[in-house]
Amino acid sequence: MPTAESPSILLPTDPHSFASGSPVRVGHLALALTVDFATRTLAGSATWQLANPGSASEVVLDTRDLVIEGVEILTEAGNAAPAAFSLGAPDAVLGQALRIALQPETTALRIGYRTAPTAAALQWLAPEQTAGPEPFLFTQSQAILARTWLPCQDSPGIRFTYEATVRVPAHLLALMSAENPQQLSPSGEYRFRMTQPIPAYLMALAVGDLAFAPLSDRTGIYAEPATLPVATHEFADLENMVAAAEELYGPYRWERYDLLVLPPSFPFGGMENPRLTFVTPTILAGDRSLTSLVAHELAHSWSGNLVTNATWNDFWLNEGFTVYFERRIMEHLYGCEYADMLQVLGRAALHHTIEEIGAASPDTHLHLALAGRDPDEGLTEIAYEKGCAFLLTLESLVGRPPLDAFIKRYFARFSFQAMDTATFLHYLRAELLDRTPGLEARLNLAAWVEGPGLPANAPALTSHRFDAVDQALAQLQAGAAPAALRSGTAGWSSHEWVHFLHGLPPTLSSILAAKLDEAFHFTKSGNAEMLAAWFPVALRAGHSPAVPALEKFLHKVGRRKFLVPLYKALLAWPNGPALARAIYAEARPNYHSVATSTLDALLAEQK
Ligand code: BES
Ligand code: ZN
Repeated sequence: MPTAESPSILLPTDPHSFASGSPVRVGHLALALTVDFATRTLAGSATWQLANPGSASEVVLDTRDLVIEGVEILTEAGNAAPAAFSLGAPDAVLGQALRIALQPETTALRIGYRTAPTAAALQWLAPEQTAGPEPFLFTQSQAILARTWLPCQDSPGIRFTYEATVRVPAHLLALMSAENPQQLSPSGEYRFRMTQPIPAYLMALAVGDLAFAPLSDRTGIYAEPATLPVATHEFADLENMVAAAEELYGPYRWERYDLLVLPPSFPFGGMENPRLTFVTPTILAGDRSLTSLVAHELAHSWSGNLVTNATWNDFWLNEGFTVYFERRIMEHLYGCEYADMLQVLGRAALHHTIEEIGAASPDTHLHLALAGRDPDEGLTEIAYEKGCAFLLTLESLVGRPPLDAFIKRYFARFSFQAMDTATFLHYLRAELLDRTPGLEARLNLAAWVEGPGLPANAPALTSHRFDAVDQALAQLQAGAAPAALRSGTAGWSSHEWVHFLHGLPPTLSSILAAKLDEAFHFTKSGNAEMLAAWFPVALRAGHSPAVPALEKFLHKVGRRKFLVPLYKALLAWPNGPALARAIYAEARPNYHSVATSTLDALLAEQK
C-alpha cells in the first residue's frame, strides 16, 4: 500500500510510455536544436544525464516519427563512444521505444536526431496564418506528443531539468517553458534554462515574430506585435490573479508567470507550459470576459505542474483540482456571483458530456482506464467538471477552511512529485476524512472516483445572475419579441449570453432566430464563446445569414473545443454534410494535428 510519505515508490507504471518501466531514469537534458522553416524540421541533439542506480545495461526512451541519426554514450569525464541502439515496432499512438545499450561507466547519452515534417506536436504556420508577415512554429506536447519532437521519457511521472540552445531565423524570437528572453537575439541563437524539474508533457517551444510587454515584475505578455496591445489590455489583471492564487494555496514556485498569445490555429484554449502559459487568441474578447481560462492555466502551476498526475488515468487530479482552483481565483477577484456563473456553465457542460458518453460508461469515472487507447480520449468534462464537483462536495461536507488547509498542505507536501489516484485517496483519508467518523460514507468516495455519472450528493448549483437570464428566456417562450428583452439584457456579460443561447428551445423558427440576431447581433459578435453557442442555434433554425460568419470562424480558428461541436452542428443540418466537408477540405491545413485527428474521424464517419 503506498503511503503518503513514500508516494513515488509504488506509483503505477504508465501504460502510455515505453520508458516508464525503465529502471534507468533521465535527470537533466541539454538540448541543441536548429529550427528550419523551409523543411519544417527541428534538427540537433538531446543530451540526457542518467540515473542508473541498479547499473542496468539499457535505457528506454519514447520516440514517435523521429529520425535517430546516432547515439553516443558519455562518461563522467566526458569521453564519448558510439552506442548500440534499436527502435522498437511502431505503435500508431505510442510511437517507438528507443533502446540504448549502456556501459557501467555511462552517465549520459547524446542522441542526434531530426523531427518529421508531420511531427504531431508541431504546428508550422505560414505567414498568412499569423497576424504578421513571418512564419510561426509552436509545440503542443500534452498528453504524449513530446516524443514527436524530443526523444524523452515521456511519462508525467518522470521529471527532469533542462537547458537548451535553439537556433532560429535571425528576426524571430524563440520561447520555451523555461527562463525566457524578452528581446530578439541578433544572431538568432537563444539559450534557455529550466531549473525546476518538469515532466516531458510540459516541454514547449514557440518561434515567431513576437514581442514582449511587462505587466508586473514577474508577469508579462508575449504576442505578435499586432496582437500585443489588445492582449495587454485583456490580461491587465494577471498579477492580481497570481497574487490571489498564492493567497489561496501557497507560493508560486516558478518565479515568472508570462503568457504567450498564439495565432488562432492553436488547438486548445490554453496550455499550462511552466513559466509561459500558451493561450488561444479567441479569449481576446475586448472586455476581459474570458480570462477565467488564464486563471485555469495559472492554477495548473500548482495542480498539475507541481503535483502531477502519475499517469493519464489520474488526469482528474490535474484538471479537477485546477477547475476548482480556477473558480476560487475568479471568486476572489470578481466575487461569488461571477464564479457561480462559471460553476453553472461548467455543470451544464458536465451533464451534456455524461449524456454523450453514457451515464453508465466507465469513461465517466474520475479514475480512468486508458491503457491501450489514446490518452486524448480521457480529455472530457469528466476530469474537469466532475473533478471540480467532487471537490465542491468535499467542501460542502468539511467546510471551506479545512478543505483549503488540506489542499495547501497537499500541494506543499507533493511539490515536484507525481500523484496517482490511490495515493491521493490514501492521503485524503489520512489528512481529512478519517478524523470524522462516517465522513467517507457521506462523501460516497468510491462512487465518485470509481463509479459512473454524477453522484447524487453533488451540491446543486445556482447563479443569481442566471436567474435573470432564465426570466428572459421565459418571456421569450411566452411570446415576447426579442427586441422587447433589450433593456433587461443591457448589462449582460458573455456568460449570461452563453447561458441564454444554451437555453433557447431546440427548435426555433428562422423568423425568431432572425429577430434575435437583429436585436442582439450574435452573428457579428467578437466573442468566440458567444459565436460558438450561437452558430448551432442559427443552423438548427435554418438562419442562413449566420453561415458565412460560421465559415469564416471555421477557417480561422483551430481550437478543437469549438471546432468539434460546430462541425457536428453543420453535419446535422439538412444541407450541412457537403458544406462541412467543403469547409473542412479548405480549412484543414490551418488546424493542428490534435484537431485534425479528431475531425478526420468525425467527418469521415458521415460519408
Ligand atoms: N492542460 C490542458 C489542455 C490539455 C489537456 C491538452 C490534455 C492536451 C491534453 C489545459 O489546461 C486546459 O484544460 N485547457 C482548456 C481550458 C480550460 C479553461 C478548460 C482548453 O484548452 O479548453
Ligand atoms: Zn487544464
